Amino acid sequence: MQGEVSESVAPSVVTIDGPSGTGKGTIAAIVAQKLGWHMLDSGALYRLTALAALNHAIDLKDKIRVAAVAENLDVEFVTGVDSQTIIKLEGQDVTNDIRTETAGNNASIIATIPEVRAALLNRQHAFLQKPGLIADGRDMGTVIFPDAILKIYLTASAEERASRRYKQLKGKGLNANIDSLSREISERDERDSNRAVAPLKPAEDAEILDTSDLTIEEVVESVFVLLQKYGLSESDWNELA
Ligand code: DC
Repeated sequence: MQGEVSESVAPSVVTIDGPSGTGKGTIAAIVAQKLGWHMLDSGALYRLTALAALNHAIDLKDKIRVAAVAENLDVEFVTGVDSQTIIKLEGQDVTNDIRTETAGNNASIIATIPEVRAALLNRQHAFLQKPGLIADGRDMGTVIFPDAILKIYLTASAEERASRRYKQLKGKGLNANIDSLSREISERDERDSNRAVAPLKPAEDAEILDTSDLTIEEVVESVFVLLQKYGLSESDWNELA
């Protein structure tokens, strides 16, 4: 009710989960910006953990040492010009380094280690601050924020996801091969979906959105329709802001 939101109201959280290449990160960033909410890119934490481990010459299969890296991750998310987030690991700008296919695959490998997931739990919860949070990942709705007011699960066909990734890499002037991209995407889906702890799957109460034939704008529009459906109107987010 207008004017009656008390100080103790917990910040709202909306989760966006799904496999790689569904546009989760892009959608989450746009929605968070439009709402004036915070954003958690949980995949970045797994990418950073893998990168930090490799920088310290730690074998990605060494569960105990990789978990210690996750626990002690020295990372800073800095908002730079044009509201772009710069990610610093141990003081070094690694914004681009963590976005490669290899970094994504390494993240997927260490993400199967339960001790790593446990070590990153509090760090993820700390992102939940007023007025609200858009959390993007694989287990946001199932494990990290099970009480989210709205859980979205984005899907897209494997071909469409590979083709989007191909265009993205080409657009950056990088080398890309559609067949190897498809293979890597399938392997990553397989690993993320079949791991023992917090596997990739929609929460039971998730809204599933197939983005294969939708533009980014159309997906954002659908998210706002869902926000209204779940009782979050524009006046709510202005009020909470
Ligand atoms: O979203 P992304 O592509 O940046 O994630 C990279 C890898 O990190 C993904 O393949 C699996 C892992 N991950 C995870 O296990 N749980 C999350 N919440 C986010 C990412």
